[in-house]
Amino acid sequence: MSASPKSRRLHLRPLAEADAGALRAAVDASREVLRRRLRWGGEAATVEGSRGFIAAAARDRRLGGREVYGVFEGRTGALAGVAALQGLLSAPGLAELSLWIRADRQGRGYGVEAGRLLAARAFRRAELQKVYARLDPGNRAARKVIQRCGFRYEGCLRHEKRLNGRWIDQECWGLLRSEWRSR
Ligand SMILES: CC(C)(COP(=O)(O)OP(=O)(O)OC[C@H]1O[C@@H](n2cnc3c(N)ncnc32)[C@H](O)[C@@H]1OP(=O)(O)O)[C@@H](O)C(=O)NCCC(=O)NCCS
Repeated sequence: MSASPKSRRLHLRPLAEADAGALRAAVDASREVLRRRLRWGGEAATVEGSRGFIAAAARDRRLGGREVYGVFEGRTGALAGVAALQGLLSAPGLAELSLWIRADRQGRGYGVEAGRLLAARAFRRAELQKVYARLDPGNRAARKVIQRCGFRYEGCLRHEKRLNGRWIDQECWGLLRSEWRSR
């Protein structure tokens, strides 16, 4: 799919090998929040690991299972976060949205802006009926972002995920194609 999604302040594009240093730096600046919220970051904690993550994302994009985007600031060109649509092959018609914003760029509205860009990109796929997100119930910032992107609460899966040594519930949020069209 062509043309990078763009808003006034951000644009999303697939990460390239040349972004490996910027990805490592963003992960490094966000280590604590990534560990706490996503159990992610370890694999991209070095430039070599970031290259591996970028290569895996490119392979998954080619195979059709996952679309990973860097979230870039339009003004500075800096990498402000990573956003992804995943599960595209495991459940046709559905996509799981995931998103993180670099810790020192949070609180500027980037999360909502990137979430909306990603949802718009998702619904350009004609077959897509629903974008969904799974949230840790304690993650108030993510809940706010998802709500402001138009997602609706669908229920809570109990002890659905093991994170940092304990079982946690997962809130289910979804955005249907019809809701996106009529927003
Ligand atoms: C969730 C996350 C993407 C939000 O990014 P962000 O750029 O700070 O989000 P925004 O600036 O767009 O803020 C969105 C809203 O959340 C609110 N918010 C931010 N942090 C908050 C917090 N700790 N508690 C409550 N609300 C919070 C903001 O005030 C804003 O609300 P408003 O529009 O009413 O003012 C970011 O915190 C993050 O990367 N977290 C770690 C990864 C994660 O949890 N991802 C979610 C999985 S989908």
